[in-house]
Amino acid sequence: MPSLEATYAGLKLKSPVVVASSGASEKVEQIKLAEAAGAGAIVMKSLFEKEVCRIAPTPRFAILRHNMKQHQTFTLYSYEQASVWGPERYAQEVERARREIGIPVIPSINCFSDAGWAGYSKMMEQAGAPAIELNISCPHGSITFSGGQVVDNLLHAVDAVRSAVKVPLVVKLSPQLTTPMQVVKEIEKRQISGVVVFNRLTGLDIDIEAERPIMHGAYAGHGGPWAISYPLRWISEMSPQTSLEISASGGVASADDVVKYLLAGATSVQVCTAIYLCGYNVIGTLNTGLSQWMAAKGYERLADFRGKVSGTSILNADQVNRKHHQVASVDEASCSGCGTCAAVCIHFAAEMHNKKARITTHCDGCGLCVHLCPKQAIAMVDM
Ligand SMILES: Cc1cc2nc3c(=O)[nH]c(=O)nc-3n(C[C@H](O)[C@H](O)[C@H](O)COP(=O)(O)O)c2cc1C
Repeated sequence: MPSLEATYAGLKLKSPVVVASSGASEKVEQIKLAEAAGAGAIVMKSLFEKEVCRIAPTPRFAILRHNMKQHQTFTLYSYEQASVWGPERYAQEVERARREIGIPVIPSINCFSDAGWAGYSKMMEQAGAPAIELNISCPHGSITFSGGQVVDNLLHAVDAVRSAVKVPLVVKLSPQLTTPMQVVKEIEKRQISGVVVFNRLTGLDIDIEAERPIMHGAYAGHGGPWAISYPLRWISEMSPQTSLEISASGGVASADDVVKYLLAGATSVQVCTAIYLCGYNVIGTLNTGLSQWMAAKGYERLADFRGKVSGTSILNADQVNRKHHQVASVDEASCSGCGTCAAVCIHFAAEMHNKKARITTHCDGCGLCVHLCPKQAIAMVDM
């Protein structure tokens, strides 16, 4: 059996799968389920200084479906903000978790004043927190949206906490930063253990009958399996350039996604939406799938492959092989004559002949028809 041993905030984890901060990680009862399912660590629901956010409206979830013909994806759209608790009650839960849970349970705080950042982090440290995650990236309003001095404000908050406590700190970043790599470099100078890349985006959906936003008239958090590509891209760029641990977050739907984040250089992988939609046992599925993939590849530990697809292993524009060496070809026996390829080919290369598709010499090898053919009757072949 390969070892899944990983780290988060310098703490040793038995699995890189970490439960991300959300309503599913607020109470010790929920945390016990995640621990039993095999989580390496848990990040608790964020404690907010802004008190109004502690009362959540109902309902606060929608699943937005984005369908285009047979192509489907979805957004888990949510208006869930803070933990329902104030700092004293939250600290009691941190203390309880320390007594009753065998894996690291990390509080998460989101403040707006220096006194809040320093005071809340001190309370968490005194409650026995093994580390603290700084949620400076909440999609419902955070430093990221405060206007001109975003990076300065963000680093100011990090400094306020760093000078207040000694516990390891992890900074959760927003995908809406314009210069994520530069921010990571700045954070690295501040005795911080790691970064979470990334929190969710802020989105808007509109009820076109009522002509207003669907979620209580407000913006809301949005994400889903489609969201993985963006953090994956940044982690692959950041990991060779920073000594910080990188906890990946965004779009994990299967063990393959965990493998992808580790290949890009993540040191742990957070999961949230999959728990909301599939239950805590999805954590076990992720661990098992990761183990099986490692065993099949002959890897014994995460370090054997972590970061293999990052930095210079990703080609730049000058290095990509641009030679046209393949074109599309139709297997007539499989073609149903539906005409999809002919309808979509922007190169006028696919045409219908005796109720069968045919690819002409206009084909420029783009390969899109291969993915659109409902009968998988088209393949790329060498010229
Ligand atoms: C309902 C919900 C509540 C969340 N609450 C928090 C939170 O309190 N603090 C925080 O830092 N992130 C919060 N997040 C973001 C998640 O921790 C995670 O970073 C994000 O959802 C991306 O991961 P996923 O694609 O696995 O969901 C929340 C996400 C969801 C869906």
